[in-house]
Amino acid sequence: MSNPCLLSSSIGKKFLMSITGLFFVLFVAFHATMNAVHIFSPEDYNAICKFLGANWYALVGTGIIALGFIIHIVYATILTIQNRKARGTDRYDSEVRPASVEWASKNMFALGVIIILGLGLHLYMFWAKMQLAEIAGFVDEIAGPADGSAFIFYWFSKPWVVVAYTIWLTALWFHLTHGFWSAFQTMGWNNKTWMPRLKCLSDVLATIICLAFEAVVIAAFCMA
Ligand code: HEM
Repeated sequence: MSNPCLLSSSIGKKFLMSITGLFFVLFVAFHATMNAVHIFSPEDYNAICKFLGANWYALVGTGIIALGFIIHIVYATILTIQNRKARGTDRYDSEVRPASVEWASKNMFALGVIIILGLGLHLYMFWAKMQLAEIAGFVDEIAGPADGSAFIFYWFSKPWVVVAYTIWLTALWFHLTHGFWSAFQTMGWNNKTWMPRLKCLSDVLATIICLAFEAVVIAAFCMA
């Protein structure tokens, strides 16, 4: 029997959003670490791209990421519509909400939309020309499917791409600073001792992750 509470109640939907959101924090942390390798060694970066490639484990990973992403977006949309209908702009039950994250917490959906648009562009620039090209059996005119470094230098030599990625990463930073501690709060970890610590951890994690991505962009722009 399915669990009607998890899918239909507001807290059940927020719980699924929290689980998928925390999964994405792990994914972006891994993805940022992997990409940061490019700053020090484009050759080693390409070795990682070759290892991931279009192998079965990479395809399973892509499927899981896509599924988690769809769940996160669908529930974010449903909850935002429901909350706006029910409570206007006062969308949160809890009063445990540090003032510094007020702006991000109120704009999570708008930030999410910027992240989706950026992700669409990003997948076109990299994933479609690498993993998808390998599956579909074509070679993009920029480079081969395992030459991630060539794609990085190609795209990040263009100033508009650097600006677009910087905007995208700024939106991701705001989204992560609120999303990480909010996920723990949803799962019941919302006491007065842990909330400030989790808030601080959110800021530190979001900053390290987004700066690592931005460093890859700037380093490639300077070297290209
Ligand atoms: C400097 C910034 C970034 C670089 C250089 C970069 C690089 C790449 C590359 C090379 C791929 C293709 C891998 C392959 O198909 O073999 C990829 C895929 C992907 N990237 Fe990024 N990325 C960056 C930032 C981001 C950010 C900020 C996010 C999330 C918000 C993200 C999400 C993804 C996703 C979801 C995929 C598809 C994953 C998969 O197929 O398993 N990337 N990225």
